[in-house]
Amino acid sequence: MTTPVNVTVTGAAGQIGYALLFRIASGAMLGPDTPVRLRLLEIPQAVRAAEGTAMELDDCAFPLLAGIDIHDDPAQGLAGTNIALLVGARPRGPGMERADLLEANGGIFGPQGKAINDGAADDVRVLVVGNPANTNALIAAAHAPDVPAERFTAMTRLDHNRALSQVAARAGVPVADVRRLTIWGNHSATQYPDLFHADVAGTPGGTLTADTAWLTDEFIPTVAKRGAAIIDARGASSAASAANAAIEHTRDWVLGTPEGDWTSAGVVSTGEYGVPEGLVCSFPVTSSGGDWQVVEGLEIDAFSRERIDASVAELTAERDAVRSLGLV
Ligand code: NAD
Ligand code: LMR
Repeated sequence: MTTPVNVTVTGAAGQIGYALLFRIASGAMLGPDTPVRLRLLEIPQAVRAAEGTAMELDDCAFPLLAGIDIHDDPAQGLAGTNIALLVGARPRGPGMERADLLEANGGIFGPQGKAINDGAADDVRVLVVGNPANTNALIAAAHAPDVPAERFTAMTRLDHNRALSQVAARAGVPVADVRRLTIWGNHSATQYPDLFHADVAGTPGGTLTADTAWLTDEFIPTVAKRGAAIIDARGASSAASAANAAIEHTRDWVLGTPEGDWTSAGVVSTGEYGVPEGLVCSFPVTSSGGDWQVVEGLEIDAFSRERIDASVAELTAERDAVRSLGLV
């Protein structure tokens, strides 16, 4: 039998964890031939709940599930891991300023980055889901100097999927007919969903952009503020769709993106499209051979440039804030 892949999920007892673990164990993430060993990493108060989830995983009798262990120590939970899905994060509480939030998350993602540096498998791949995802990924990467920076990513696949769905509905085509959309920037309300290079059922997505009112007043804000709209409607942040996006991000990273299409992911900038080096920024990306590549050479007009720059400015401000806190 193939050696199982070690997958660590932090925040395993949370809502995304509950929607994520069963799909990983079923083979949805790494395919039907790859057994997985799940490592559930939680804070001590949530270990009991994680044990309950582990009991349910056992009760599914998934043929691909080679084992489950539960930890409250990052060094143990991340030792030997091949794939780390960093979901658990500190949510913003009442009266908390953004700097407080960044500092609290620094206390989580710094030690987790160090644990990955010191003990993860050589091929470790890290996806940060916990918000603020891009800057948390930056913090984790900064604490893992021995791990190549490109192994740290932040999730914007949910934003990408939200944009696909909005465009398909507008154009009256199946989502499978919408390709080459891009989410640029931060996983926040400043993100820029870009239709200008898309293909919508064989026609340039740019034709949809001729309807400037729809583009600027509906499409862009609907995608960028979807997270808040879900919280408003559900009374809790997106969970199943976030878990689905984490599955798709990791699947595409490991197994490759489909020919002729690309997706969106927060990856460490090496200066592409004028984004300052080192920021974890969402770009159009393809994957082959287990590595992401930024799609280069796209023409960016003034409309897009202004919006990409605004989101990159927010990422820069977040980086400066965590720098001044000594977190990177
Ligand atoms: P949740 O509150 O239901 O669960 C979070 C879990 O993380 C809790 O069980 C908590 O005990 C655990 N946790 C906290 N600190 C931890 C630590 N140091 N180590 C291990 N576990 C820890 O939250 P959720 O709904 O599952 O969301 C998790 C995160 O994902 C939030 O930050 C949320 O904002 C974010 N999110 C991101 C996206 C995205 O697209 N990037 C989408 C949705 C949600
Ligand atoms: C989402 O995009 O659904 C989440 O990032 C929202 C949130 O603040 O948790």
